[in-house]
Amino acid sequence: MEPHLLRLLFGLLLSGTRALAGYPIWWSLALGQQYTSLGSQPLLCGSIPGLVPKQLRFCRNYIEIMPSVAEGVKLGIQECQHQFRGRRWNCTTIDDSLAIFGPVLDKATRESAFVHAIASAGVAFAVTRSCAEGTSTLCGCDSHHKGPPGEGWKWGGCSEDADFGVLVSREFADARENRPDARSAMNKHNNEAGRTTILDHMHLKCKCHGLSGSCEVKTCWWAQPDFRAVGDLLKDKYDSASEMVVEKHRESRGWVETLRAKYALFKPPTERDLVYYENSPNFCEPNAETGSFGTRDRTCNITSHGIDGCDLLCCGRGHNTRTEQRKEKCHCVFHWCCYVSCQECIRIYDVHTCK
Ligand SMILES: *[C@@H]1O[C@H](CO)[C@@H](O)[C@H](O)[C@H]1NC(C)=O
Ligand SMILES: *[C@@H]1O[C@H](CO)[C@@H](O)[C@H](O)[C@H]1NC(C)=O
Repeated sequence: MEPHLLRLLFGLLLSGTRALAGYPIWWSLALGQQYTSLGSQPLLCGSIPGLVPKQLRFCRNYIEIMPSVAEGVKLGIQECQHQFRGRRWNCTTIDDSLAIFGPVLDKATRESAFVHAIASAGVAFAVTRSCAEGTSTLCGCDSHHKGPPGEGWKWGGCSEDADFGVLVSREFADARENRPDARSAMNKHNNEAGRTTILDHMHLKCKCHGLSGSCEVKTCWWAQPDFRAVGDLLKDKYDSASEMVVEKHRESRGWVETLRAKYALFKPPTERDLVYYENSPNFCEPNAETGSFGTRDRTCNITSHGIDGCDLLCCGRGHNTRTEQRKEKCHCVFHWCCYVSCQECIRIYDVHTCK
């Protein structure tokens, strides 16, 4: 066989087993070529990698929702990269691979727990938002949560139907998590924790109407939390995630693995907490097997004592310092009326990078 064919076949086999081992390869829908062609070309469900039959059926039946599903995973990844920006593992994705996080998320670690939670929350969030924007005939505004209006305001605008978004996320993102193994139980738990974070933080959003913003009339609707808030909440849950152990039970359908809290002294995790059962590598050195990129050449913060500080981020290897010139706007003057003119100045910064 031709060497490149062999490589291709090997790649497919690898991504096939990977799809079963850890995380969904349909997440690749959120990156690269597939994503950029979503707006311009009709989506072909059969061309999305790694879908199980239930997902393929969902895709074909609800094709108009699929762009929001992809958008949701993209939102989740962007939020992950924001939350982990100063950490050793910073949620890097690999554009030209179907397994977009590489092998890192194959293990049942805290990082895997976080990414599953934020991705399934992202799907629920993006679907809900696009429904409220009226982009699909399958869904729209929420009309059951109304209740009586409050003091000084009335219902108006479009209440976001988060229950629908959550339902879609549960149907689609959890479709492959029905195996009787521990990893499936973990993924399902963390997916649900991610979605619940949205439901728990639905709130009233209001707008004033009236002469020059006088708020004579105020209309309010139910709204989802900002996705940044969802990311902050899930990052806290990552920090306090519960370590579990795997237990095997014999049931009528065969062996089933379930998870139990490892430390009986601690409060057991609720359905809102993140759970994991394998320890993370330290991500200090590059390692093809664990998928760690190492922290060499990463920019570190010389004044921070946290994980983004040069000591911890560089794993004690030390750092290099160079100066960098950046052009910035300066000496800005306000001219009556109404514009601002600025000059361009060169400022010099110290940049510290890990050895
Ligand atoms: C994240 O880590 C990768 C690999 O170490 C690095 O190339 C990239 O610049 C980092 N991204 C940020 C935003 O620090
Ligand atoms: C570096 O860390 C300090 C202390 O934690 C913080 O105030 C500062 O904003 C950080 N700088 C950057 C560029 O993140």
